[in-house]
Amino acid sequence: MPTTPSEDRAVLTDHGLALDEGLPETWTALAADVLRGLTDEHKHLPPKWFYDARGSDLFDQICEQPEYYPTRAEAELLSAQGSAIAKAFPARELVELGSGSSTKTPLLLRPLMKEGTLERYVPVDVSASALGQAQRTLEAAFPGLLIERRVLDFTTQLHLLGHAPQGGRLVAFLGSTIGNLEPVEVQAFLAALRSQLGPGDAVLIGTDLVKDTATLEAAYNDAAGITAAFNKNVLRVVNRELDADFDEDAFAHESIWNPELERIETRLRALGPQQVRVRSLSLDVDFTEGEAIFTEISRKFRRETVAELYTAAGFELTDWFEGNGVYGLSIARPV
Ligand code: SAH
Ligand code: AVI
Repeated sequence: MPTTPSEDRAVLTDHGLALDEGLPETWTALAADVLRGLTDEHKHLPPKWFYDARGSDLFDQICEQPEYYPTRAEAELLSAQGSAIAKAFPARELVELGSGSSTKTPLLLRPLMKEGTLERYVPVDVSASALGQAQRTLEAAFPGLLIERRVLDFTTQLHLLGHAPQGGRLVAFLGSTIGNLEPVEVQAFLAALRSQLGPGDAVLIGTDLVKDTATLEAAYNDAAGITAAFNKNVLRVVNRELDADFDEDAFAHESIWNPELERIETRLRALGPQQVRVRSLSLDVDFTEGEAIFTEISRKFRRETVAELYTAAGFELTDWFEGNGVYGLSIARPV
């Protein structure tokens, strides 16, 4: 029997943050991340807490901004190479990690359905609201396709996916979301993924590539201020879920390219000295003027580094698709 969660049960609050189904410890996980992150010498919050219903919507708006090229680059690549990908791996099951609103997924579903092998699409995300909307849209567009959404944290709960007994599973991880993981997290993520896959399965991963600083920094500092609102959304989530009193206007959005580590570093910087109370944790957090909360890294890749990551986790890169040096899509198979 399919194990699709009911959307109602998947949402503990009415705000769309997936706080229970598949994630029984989620409130505790948020509390632990906030306690650890705001009491560390260098404050930090993990990016997965951006994505309540509002955050998921803001991310979709980011994708429409003229400066944010990765979504368009990946969509163009999927349009041009979707058939080649489907021929390289005619999947029986497409699992998509961090699928969000699944906007680009039809570019993969169509060619896979044309191959005549695809039976099931399994979108996986922490955002129950994004998953629910995506399921409704895709069911209308692909009436014959079985869709089983899963509210899961791909950094800690991949084991809940279980194996695909007959093989033919393609796990897609699009949007360069892999770039939001620290190197050690990527290693753990790929190793966990590898352990869920058999010899007849494969992964398809989208990676934004290293490019000039101006293009990169513009993508994370759009003129309309949508990325800034997305970044500050984590403060709203903490205010709502943990009864905190962050004033988002008292923080500035900052996204800067770090050329040594080849990553965009995103922070919220306190505009003045202040104290924030997190009532549910009985915690007072002091900020000095200019002090930052690290909220996200967006690593950028090169083909060689992608191949090395796969090798270290027991995969072999078998197919590489690249659009004008801007963006890469790779298929890798377990070795
Ligand atoms: N794949 C889509 C969305 C990318 S945004 C695209 O390419 O446009 C990143 C997505 O990953 C969001 O939908 C977010 O909710 C989800 N996400 C972030 N951290 C996650 C985690 N730890 N586990 C599961 N989903 C996560
Ligand atoms: C989902 N992820 C790959 C996006 C990125 O580019 O790092 C999230 C994002 N953050 C700011 N803009 C977009």
